[in-house]
Amino acid sequence: MEQRLSDLIILLASGINQRRMYFDNHPNVQALSAEIVEKLRAMLSESEQNEFAFGVFSSKFIRKGKYLVGPSIAGRSLIEFSECLCCGGFVFRWPITPADLVTFFRLGAEQKDKLDSLETARAFFASAGLSHIEISPPLSEDRQEGRDDGKNSESDDNDDMDFMAADFAPLLRVYQSLYETVATNNIALNSDNRIDLDQARSSGEELVAVSDKGALDVMQFMRYPDFDSYTIGHSVRVAALGALLARELDWPRDLQNEIATAGLLHDLGKGSVPDEILFKPGCLSDDERQIMETHPVLGVRILLANGETNPIVLSAAWGHHIREDGRGYPVMPPWFARSSAAALIHVCDVFEALTAARPYKNPMCPRRAYEIMIKDKGAFQPLILAALIRTLCLYPPGSEVLLSDRRRAVVVAKGPTPGLPLVRITHDESGVPLPRQKQPAVHLHREPKLQIDEFMQVGVDSDENADTETVVHTV
Ligand SMILES: [Fe+2]
Repeated sequence: MEQRLSDLIILLASGINQRRMYFDNHPNVQALSAEIVEKLRAMLSESEQNEFAFGVFSSKFIRKGKYLVGPSIAGRSLIEFSECLCCGGFVFRWPITPADLVTFFRLGAEQKDKLDSLETARAFFASAGLSHIEISPPLSEDRQEGRDDGKNSESDDNDDMDFMAADFAPLLRVYQSLYETVATNNIALNSDNRIDLDQARSSGEELVAVSDKGALDVMQFMRYPDFDSYTIGHSVRVAALGALLARELDWPRDLQNEIATAGLLHDLGKGSVPDEILFKPGCLSDDERQIMETHPVLGVRILLANGETNPIVLSAAWGHHIREDGRGYPVMPPWFARSSAAALIHVCDVFEALTAARPYKNPMCPRRAYEIMIKDKGAFQPLILAALIRTLCLYPPGSEVLLSDRRRAVVVAKGPTPGLPLVRITHDESGVPLPRQKQPAVHLHREPKLQIDEFMQVGVDSDENADTETVVHTV
């Protein structure tokens, strides 16, 4: 359900973006409005409610006291609209119509200046004839939607989010553009199949330009299932990992850019795989697996139909499920040599799948993911796998760890000694969170008595017996 809520918010933001490019009666705007109404109808009837509401607080979407990271990145246009309206969220009430949404998108696309008050904004909505969409008052710290008294279990998440907002704000715009690129292409696959290749290319270049800090953000976003509209978050993170590895391997700058773009587009073909298969929790049947395994070929067809000619992008889309020993899919002709680009995206693809949260599994700690990948003899290009481990290390930046003195910390950067990174202490020995300004940075290689005892990201699965086959092969 949470995933569908996130997707719905992203679609609403896309409506504003589409309306900025087109006009009320344009087929894209009309189709999106109808699609949202249909999704809303299904969701409300399932939950036996008659309205769908979410808040906006501190430039992020919030629902039931929980920040929605992915939509907050992908849905900037809707957040900006809420800021123009001086409101703290939106309520969409049944029976909302596609015409209501078209009007909503038009207001969102055209409103550039901040209105002077919530009352003015409400009058603005009323004069446009919007009766099934309401705006709610701004949320204060203790009135965030759904939070009770601030003592609930969400407080840790919010601390993390404040940390993230403070440290990574400059990168959010880039992540937003990456996310939008993949999300927009996914939407296009459901309508006219027209992919914005130029946007993908410029997003890839932006990613490479900021990839100095990329590892940090990759791990941060892997922690939050909400960031992941599954294939969208996956592609963004594969692109980010790909850019890092291409740099680590000293590939030329142009190639780094192409790898980032290839990461964004590598799973395009999944847009043609039915949702019941794509989002099925657990193992696929043989028939379902066969359908799933068509996605590399379908992806290349879509790319070619859109005029893509870049061999890096095409080969990565086609070959990212082919192993180093030639097994995997699609079946590789004997005369064919897999490209290094495909080999690199393959490594990133599997590592991301293992370490990311999915609706049916917890994320796995990187050390365990490395073990599985190393043990899978013949699967990966050794030089690329080594570069992955070298780049991310045992505790990639963004990892949450427990120190030997029982304090909790977040890894900020890798240190000169493997396993001894620079960390920032976030919780004291009793597990009490420290205020952001009182979180000391500690270079573990300078503290001989202090070491990392445990990798302890929330929900991370380090179970040695975890069933990984499914994970590796269904992505
Ligand atoms: Fe794939």
